Amino acid sequence: MLLFKRLSRSTWVLILISLIVSIAACKKDSDNTDPLAELNLPSTPYDYENIVFPDHYLTNDFPAGFPFQFAAMESDNTPLDNPTTNEGATLGRVLFYDKKLSANGTISCSSCHKQANGFSDDKVLSDGFQGGKTRRHSMGIVNARFYDTGKFFWDERAATLEDQVLMPFQDAVEMGLTLQQLEQIVQDQLYYAPLFADAFGDETINADRISKALSQFVRSIVSVNSKYDQGRVLVNNPILDFPNFTAEENLGKQLFYSQNLVAPSCNSCHMSEAFVAPLLAPNGTTIATNNGLDSVSTSDLGVFETTGINNQRGKFKVPSLKNIAQRAPFMHDGRFATLEEVIDHYSTGIQNHPTLQPFLIDSIGNPVQYNFTNQEKATLVAFLNTLTDLPLTVDDKFSNPFN
Ligand code: HEC
Ligand code: HEC
Repeated sequence: MLLFKRLSRSTWVLILISLIVSIAACKKDSDNTDPLAELNLPSTPYDYENIVFPDHYLTNDFPAGFPFQFAAMESDNTPLDNPTTNEGATLGRVLFYDKKLSANGTISCSSCHKQANGFSDDKVLSDGFQGGKTRRHSMGIVNARFYDTGKFFWDERAATLEDQVLMPFQDAVEMGLTLQQLEQIVQDQLYYAPLFADAFGDETINADRISKALSQFVRSIVSVNSKYDQGRVLVNNPILDFPNFTAEENLGKQLFYSQNLVAPSCNSCHMSEAFVAPLLAPNGTTIATNNGLDSVSTSDLGVFETTGINNQRGKFKVPSLKNIAQRAPFMHDGRFATLEEVIDHYSTGIQNHPTLQPFLIDSIGNPVQYNFTNQEKATLVAFLNTLTDLPLTVDDKFSNPFN
């Protein structure tokens, strides 16, 4: 009491004022808490929907003599009901990098699809949320948009990208959630409501919208700025020498497209100028194929596991070769550590599997071997290196948005 009496009236007023001020400041603070503060997103979204494709993605400029080639855009698998929008892909980017969306909060899509590695993983098999290993090598998702049938995974078990992107969440090794748990975790993060509202018009959060947004982001990851693309825009067709290439790179390009090899060239399976799989033949059931890695399939039966069709044993999806040099190790099981080993395989290692691509079998039934000279091997590797799109792998719009 004594103490109270000693405080003068003006001191009391001062205390009162500072109390009011601090309460007001507190309130102001909480009003200002921006749910998007923990994200590093631009105030105007990046442009994902108006990708400027160079002409060589839009028109087929292969000369006569390359009858099965096509323009990459003919194999675009974007569905009519899920066109990419800037807001949708922005939401997809956040989902892609959000580690909270796994059973113990340690893994996101980007853990196994790393921007610096052409959106693949440098490990032979990737680590799941509890340290378990994935069954196959992670796929690079650059140019995933260009695959004629729109099927996904090495064994084509996802019918569409919209189906595919929800599967890692539910995979017992990869992210370990149920769709219900996924929806709950997304609903619990304050930053998602405004992002869903921007993307879809209201704040409803559900698995279908998660799938749509992630697919939009994945489809926006296309490579149009590699050394190949920069050279290609300077000439009229892919076969002409590119002025920005070294002599070695141009020789490697000639070999990749060559019509004078023992068997059809690399670009009969790695087609168009997006270096993707062929278009599906009329009446065809798959565009996956067998490039002779093994003489028998034992533990991994490829597309057969999805379809049960016998002649699809040991067939695998042909991935785009864009950014391939950043995606070691190679093939569905990551068996080759270097591009040199890949070329050695085609040069002398093709195995006679029952479903080996027919044009890789010679007239007496043996697998063909390309038998490249050492110099030819070096030129092919030099050429494959020109397919690396460095700007893509450092572009902020595809990077981790979490602060
Ligand atoms: C733990 C590692 C891991 C995580 C996490 C992961 N992936 Fe994958 N991803 C893989 C592996 C391995 C494959 C190939 C699996 C197969 O074909 O059987 C793959 C394949 C894919 C493919 C197929 C590409 C193609 O051309 O067919 C896409 C697309 C993809 N992942 C996107 C995603 C998205 C989106 C997420 C997050 C929701 C994600 N991945 C999470 C490892 C992972
Ligand atoms: C018969 C079709 C065919 C031909 C011809 C062909 N490839 Fe392939 N290529 C494939 C298939 C299928 C795969 C994936 C195989 C797997 O992982 O099981 C592949 C994979 C690759 C990979 C690794 C891709 C990755 O993501 O790991 C590289 C690199 C490659 N091929 C380069 C070449 C080069 C260079 C040539 C020419 C010397 C060539 N290919 C000829 C079908 C073919």
